[in-house]
Amino acid sequence: MGTKDISILAIESSCDETSASIIVNGKVLNNIVATQSVHEKYGGVVPELASRAHQENLIPVVQEAISSSGLSKESLSAIAFTRGPGLMGSLLVGVSFAKAFAFGLGIPLIEVNHMQAHVLAHFIDEPKPDFPFICLTVSGGHTQLVLVKSPLEMEVVGQTRDDAVGEAFDKTAKLLGLPYPGGPLIDKYAREGNPRAFDFPITRMPELDYSFSGIKTAVLYFLRDQLEGNPNFIEQNLQDLCASIQYSLIKMLTIKLEKAVEAYGVKRVAIAGGVSANSGLRSELKVLADQRGWELFIPKFEYCTDNAGMIAMAAHFKYLVGDFTTMDVAPLAKMSL
Ligand code: KG4
Ligand code: ZN
Repeated sequence: MGTKDISILAIESSCDETSASIIVNGKVLNNIVATQSVHEKYGGVVPELASRAHQENLIPVVQEAISSSGLSKESLSAIAFTRGPGLMGSLLVGVSFAKAFAFGLGIPLIEVNHMQAHVLAHFIDEPKPDFPFICLTVSGGHTQLVLVKSPLEMEVVGQTRDDAVGEAFDKTAKLLGLPYPGGPLIDKYAREGNPRAFDFPITRMPELDYSFSGIKTAVLYFLRDQLEGNPNFIEQNLQDLCASIQYSLIKMLTIKLEKAVEAYGVKRVAIAGGVSANSGLRSELKVLADQRGWELFIPKFEYCTDNAGMIAMAAHFKYLVGDFTTMDVAPLAKMSL
């Protein structure tokens, strides 16, 4: 490594993954992730337990990222961290560590917006999208349609007005008696079910906005009625229920995505966030891309869910334009693009 190399250590701690990554001259060398299993038995992320687990996992994860990169910490050019959005206690662990480490080494700090980083995950590996492109960011906390004009210039053109789509997957899965997080399990059972077996609502919001809270209520009342007549209704119909719920959720996502492509005349389409792992969504997008002549970009799974590799990628772009952060920075639970 030469003295002019740009080597950045990035930290992600916004929700329930503790992660560290090293990027050198724009190439992500590693992406170490410690997943917190402590939340499983509670059916959702417990903020206080998440903060404590970050506290325990952060230093080992950082040490592994540095040692497996072959770099010494003295050769780092900057420390990057997720400033928000996310859980306040979780963010605080990462922000405090990043500040102390950067101060100790006498190097700059770079704050990263977690949602911007999900989009920039597309620049970690080939093929990288040209600008402009439209990114559908779908996670447990967010559902956004983003018009991406350049690495650091993006505009939210549509978003959910209530629940995120990942939340809708997880909450309906819970109604079916599935453990947290239920999204991947709905995906698994849906593969063997009939998506048109049951009709769940496809909520249409104005413009490019989404709403995912209605489906949760619809599934709740539908199950209550069915279970009255047949207590085994869920287990007898699990595959069809999962396929039908997933059908509605995917339809809601793709209707607005198609509308955004038309409205902005941009045929480069990308997806990001944990829900982009969904096999039904992926295959539906491939069909649409073929039919409509879109260029479609889906990052590797490890860069779809929360990870520090994407924080490192965003930090690299910010380093190039000298966008550094002062030591009095505080985390932001809510932070828009
Ligand atoms: O991006 P992510 O890892 O964390 C957040 O920032 O929220 O996304 C997690 C979300 C969860 O709601 C999880 O159920 C969902 O992504 N998810 C899936 C699948 N894999 C993860 N949802 C549907 N199908 C999947 N295969
Ligand atoms: Zn995320």
